[in-house]
Amino acid sequence: MKKICAVLIVLLVAGSFAFAKSQQEASGGGQSSSLIGIAMPETHVLRWQKDGASLKSAAESRGYRAEVAYGDADQTQQNRQIQGFLTQGAKLLVVGNVNDGVNSVIADAARDNVAVIAYDRLIMGSADYDYYITFDNFKVGQFQGQGIEQGLGLASATQANPKYITLFAGSPTDNNSKFFFDGAMSVLNPYIQSGVLKVVGPYPQTSADNANFQRIATENWQAPIAKTRMENLLSNDARSVVLDAVLAPNDTLARAIIEACLADAKYAGGKLPVVTGQDAEFDSALSIKNGQQYMTVFKDTAKLAEAAVILADQILKGQTPNIPGASLASGNLTSIGDTGVKVVKAYLLEPVIITRNNISVPVNAGFYPDAEASQLR
Ligand code: BGC
Repeated sequence: MKKICAVLIVLLVAGSFAFAKSQQEASGGGQSSSLIGIAMPETHVLRWQKDGASLKSAAESRGYRAEVAYGDADQTQQNRQIQGFLTQGAKLLVVGNVNDGVNSVIADAARDNVAVIAYDRLIMGSADYDYYITFDNFKVGQFQGQGIEQGLGLASATQANPKYITLFAGSPTDNNSKFFFDGAMSVLNPYIQSGVLKVVGPYPQTSADNANFQRIATENWQAPIAKTRMENLLSNDARSVVLDAVLAPNDTLARAIIEACLADAKYAGGKLPVVTGQDAEFDSALSIKNGQQYMTVFKDTAKLAEAAVILADQILKGQTPNIPGASLASGNLTSIGDTGVKVVKAYLLEPVIITRNNISVPVNAGFYPDAEASQLR
């Protein structure tokens, strides 16, 4: 009797597992309880907190389990977090890396057959993954250059009355920094060469001038570093001129640069230089509305997160990726996915240039919570 009971129990349990599995497959979510590990680089630049939250909720709404970890701009810490995802049996990783030190754990993922999507930042020097999703980062830089061109009226500037600019770049270990800078300089170099725009401080024409690029780069996108560098410029190289513009690579650094300017008598009560930015952070959007920061670039990171999860879902289901709102880089743009040892598939979303005139664009896209949005209307 005992034996019969035991057999019955085994049969019942097995049956209910088979039923649950067939239910899951019928709902199209054969992989749906798989874990997706989301590794974001840092929290001191606000966007990543949003990216992490949007990725998690997009993955969960498709039936996946998802976990987010923030690397605190420390690659050793991020590697431990990624190892943790692999130990937990993650089936796919979405990685916004800190620097190329991530490659060893990306290799571990490949060994475990875990797919990796490089998120926003290309993972350089690795052949161990196949997908990258980001915004067109050269265009982000071009928008920054165009903001300065427009803000200074460079098209009608003269050699007799040149404009003065100083240059900042993002983290030297973030591959995006080069795209932003090269995009901006593709717009500004002709004005510098014709003598209507003068650079105060180091002038790398492109990021390929590594020695000078390092001098204007901002380690790990840290605002205090940019602030101190701006203070030093104001009391040294830029002491005897009035700066008309500062090329700032993102909003976090733009505000630090503006802070340094506001502490300088030359700019405090009067006209601030045209300062660029990126990310459409609320504080910068408010600063643009109030006439301090000149422009930013809106990258709808909620859409990027959604697109990345659609890509993840299609990879896990073995489908050929087809992502609404993102296009597969082709032609000249293919090199965006060039890690130096492999060209991965790069999916691109479009950024939008934002000045005081169209600050309503990110507001109407629902980019800010209501309490913030109402201050921008
Ligand atoms: C991102 C920017 C961000 C910066 C600092 C870059 O890789 O593309 O949106 O401002 O990192 O976190």
